Amino acid sequence: MKVAVFSAKNYDREFLDAANASRHELHFFEPQLNLETATLAAGFGAVCIFVNDHLDATVLERLADGGTRLIALRCAGYNNVDLKAAAQHTLTIVRVPGYSPHAVAEHTVGLMLALNRKLHRAYNRVREGNFSLEGLLGFDLHGKTAGIIGTGKIGMVVGQILAGFGCRILAFDPFPNETCRSLGARYLSLDELLAQSDIITLHCPLTPENKYMIDASALRKMRDGVMLINTSRGALLNTVAVIDALKSGRVSYLGLDVYEEEEHIFFEDRSGLIISDDVFSRLLTFPNVIVTGHQAFFTREAVENIAATTIGNITSFESGQSLANQIASS
Ligand code: NAI
Repeated sequence: MKVAVFSAKNYDREFLDAANASRHELHFFEPQLNLETATLAAGFGAVCIFVNDHLDATVLERLADGGTRLIALRCAGYNNVDLKAAAQHTLTIVRVPGYSPHAVAEHTVGLMLALNRKLHRAYNRVREGNFSLEGLLGFDLHGKTAGIIGTGKIGMVVGQILAGFGCRILAFDPFPNETCRSLGARYLSLDELLAQSDIITLHCPLTPENKYMIDASALRKMRDGVMLINTSRGALLNTVAVIDALKSGRVSYLGLDVYEEEEHIFFEDRSGLIISDDVFSRLLTFPNVIVTGHQAFFTREAVENIAATTIGNITSFESGQSLANQIASS
């Protein structure tokens, strides 16, 4: 199949080419897919996209008019695709539902450890010959209460790792799972989890219903000095409200791998440029905030899995087989 791969980086090319083994005709385009760039996909039966390619109704219409029949997401989340509009244009959407929950879960716990023991600050200090421990005091994770919001594939692995540290695990998920319960996790209401957790970590998908589930009101329900981690999707959290909570001390540690306006910032080298997003820039001024640029998925194993599953999805579509990874239209 002729496939237009958008937001293509060198690593996408390397891993997709290896998985493809010349089966499909892959064309790599660096730009994000949007209304301006959609014309590049004209004549391509399949379009392959990533987390910040924006497929609203107008873009989908443009793609369908250009002959596209398949949208292959090389990610798990699909909040960036208007599923209703895709169905209207009889576009099939496939994704990579679970390429490596370990990659994201391990990065999540990495953020917790770095924030707690202030490794980002210690690294800089030692390199400048400053071996003072003032300000670096951490806490034992052992015995602390961790609240996991969303106990699917990633949340489950986070639970397993934190149980290994000796944390007490609380969970909130409309569909509790027994494996998580067997770790000793206790399912509570969201409000109870917010009120009882020392660490809160988000692992649910972003939907129109849960946008800003962590807003000013949710933040007020949390313990003073809470650690908040979001490696899921930026808009689960109202960044302005979290900045207020950082200023008041309600939130003492914030770890983010995602940001609600990340499509204008992440995945590019902007080190020589001025960042015009004042909310994002404010976040970077806090010593108790660590932001990574949507890299939680980025391990060799995960990227190999993404490439293999994406190529498999395209092959199945082309050969008319049933599509295990198809997203049903809502
Ligand atoms: P999953 O589908 O296995 O699990 C999601 C869980 O969230 C399910 O158990 C579901 O019942 C639950 N859930 C749905 N709505 C909820 C709500 N309002 N409150 C609480 N729980 C809710 O998904 P998986 O693989 O664990 O991924 C979770 C999210 O992680 C993805 O949706 C994606 O946004 C994000 N992600 C981030 C990556 C990164 O690199 N930072 C990479 C991969 C995924």
